[in-house]
Amino acid sequence: MPASSVFALPDGYRHHRHVAPWWVGYIMLMPVRNWFQNPRRILRPHVKPGQTVLEVGTGMGFFTLPLAEMVGNHGRVVGVDCQDRMLDTLRRRADRHGLLDRIETRGCRGETLEIRDLGEKVDLVVAFNVVHEARDPERMIGEMARSLRPGGRLFLSEPRGHVDRDLFLWEYGLCREAGLRAVDWPKHVRQMSVIMEKPVSDG
Ligand SMILES: C[S@@+](CC[C@H](N)C(=O)[O-])C[C@H]1O[C@@H](n2cnc3c(N)ncnc32)[C@H](O)[C@@H]1O
Repeated sequence: MPASSVFALPDGYRHHRHVAPWWVGYIMLMPVRNWFQNPRRILRPHVKPGQTVLEVGTGMGFFTLPLAEMVGNHGRVVGVDCQDRMLDTLRRRADRHGLLDRIETRGCRGETLEIRDLGEKVDLVVAFNVVHEARDPERMIGEMARSLRPGGRLFLSEPRGHVDRDLFLWEYGLCREAGLRAVDWPKHVRQMSVIMEKPVSDG
């Protein structure tokens, strides 16, 4: 277990590292979810037209399609997931909604996000319900942090109940170790969330 978070995990606590099976992707698209977790309401304060958004762990695109609407014609969304079946369905849905040209999907193997080309190019990283599934959360958070431009933000959110509060705080500590600082703690039903920002250096 990486020891670099400013928050320790309780003794004996293990990070989940269990990737949701592909069929869970369909459950996460169920329309009822919009009632308590409306993606437009959650994301609108953080997304502007023309931005480059990186979404990690897209699943079948519950957040990806609304993100693509919000960045508009001149923006783009890069969606990374380690399961091709998730990305295949995401692309089909995006095509149906006329949003495919704004969304770039990238498969990864789960070890690394393979986003080195995005260094300091991303305005917003969205990581919803995914870091607890990562094999190496420290590496995932480090890669996300490096992709952000100075002043760019990471929206980290984990499902309350499924993810223990101490685990969420540990992940938050990893973000701090990666050089990000908390600017807001949004409250959303059934979620624990934090908005982290990459500081703009004085020099
Ligand atoms: C619980 S689902 C959440 C999907 C979406 N973010 C949502 O909230 O609707 C987690 C997703 O993260 C993906 N995932 C898990 N570990 C990953 C990793 N190391 N790199 C990229 N994607 C990963 C899974 O394949 C799955 O699609």
